[in-house]
Amino acid sequence: MIQEAFNSDTLKGRVALITGGGSGIGFGIATAMVNAGAKVVIASRKTDVLEEAASKLKAIGGDVAWVQTDVREPEQVKRAVETAVDTFGGLDIMIANAAGNFVVPSATMSLNAWRTVIDIDLNGTFYCAQAAYPHLKASKFGGRLLAISTMRALEGWPGCAHAGAAKAGIISLIRSLSAEWGADGIRCNTIAPGAIGNTLGVQKIYEDQGDEVRRQQLAQIPLGELGRVEDIAAAAVYLCSALGDYVTGTDLVVDGGRQRRMQEGSGANGKKESAA
Ligand code: COA
Repeated sequence: MIQEAFNSDTLKGRVALITGGGSGIGFGIATAMVNAGAKVVIASRKTDVLEEAASKLKAIGGDVAWVQTDVREPEQVKRAVETAVDTFGGLDIMIANAAGNFVVPSATMSLNAWRTVIDIDLNGTFYCAQAAYPHLKASKFGGRLLAISTMRALEGWPGCAHAGAAKAGIISLIRSLSAEWGADGIRCNTIAPGAIGNTLGVQKIYEDQGDEVRRQQLAQIPLGELGRVEDIAAAAVYLCSALGDYVTGTDLVVDGGRQRRMQEGSGANGKKESAA
């Protein structure tokens, strides 16, 4: 149903680069963008994952390329951007989606663990933004920079303090860029996914923590079910298409209402939340 909301003209002529595009939400966005007519480059660390993802995207008719990239390395991010430009003639959409996260108490988190998540999530997003900037500025459609946040960023994320801090930084960064780059026609936004099923993130942060955490999480969602990768992908297509032309500097929450329920919970009954 979600696929039918857009058609193969929705992103026709646009080129998108998606970090972390080989799996999870990134692959979902890549799939939706291919279906919406974009040419797509996926970038991540694992070549076997990229190869398999690219062949699936080609099987649905995609014009697709892949490039091995660790977003912690600015030179590799530049090379990924150059791959998109060299292969497809430009870059209209930069999706800084790659992320790392795991549950760990702050008191005992190693400094390298802290640095690793800040490096992937926050620094990686900045490297993507800066490397993509001249090409997004040149886009005839109006460039799009999209990053992934979480509502836990500004609420605080006990158990995932490194990722919460990095994502709060991403929200601030994207707001700054939306003001700095608006005159260049570049729309800069974040999407804040709630708990999205069939992703490594939800598996690591909720499902691996046991049935009680999973049950608590579902109870937090007014719509009563986990989100789907397609829900986030649809939001990404919207923001990156002409439909999103007048939207910049925003954080689009796609969470089945979880944010409202959590705010209600912390204010009304003061229940202590689990690590997740
Ligand atoms: N608990 C505590 N510390 C952890 C940890 C965990 N579950 N997982 C990793 N770390 C620590 C490591 O011990 C290491 O610190 P140290 O050198 O002091 O021991 C540091 O974090 C870096 O880990 P490492 O495995 O060397 O990094 P990596 O670059 O190979 O992997 C991760 C990066 C850690 C983010 C990895 O989990 C990953 O790439 N995951 C896939 C993406 C993902 O997490 N997706 C979900 C996004 S919501």
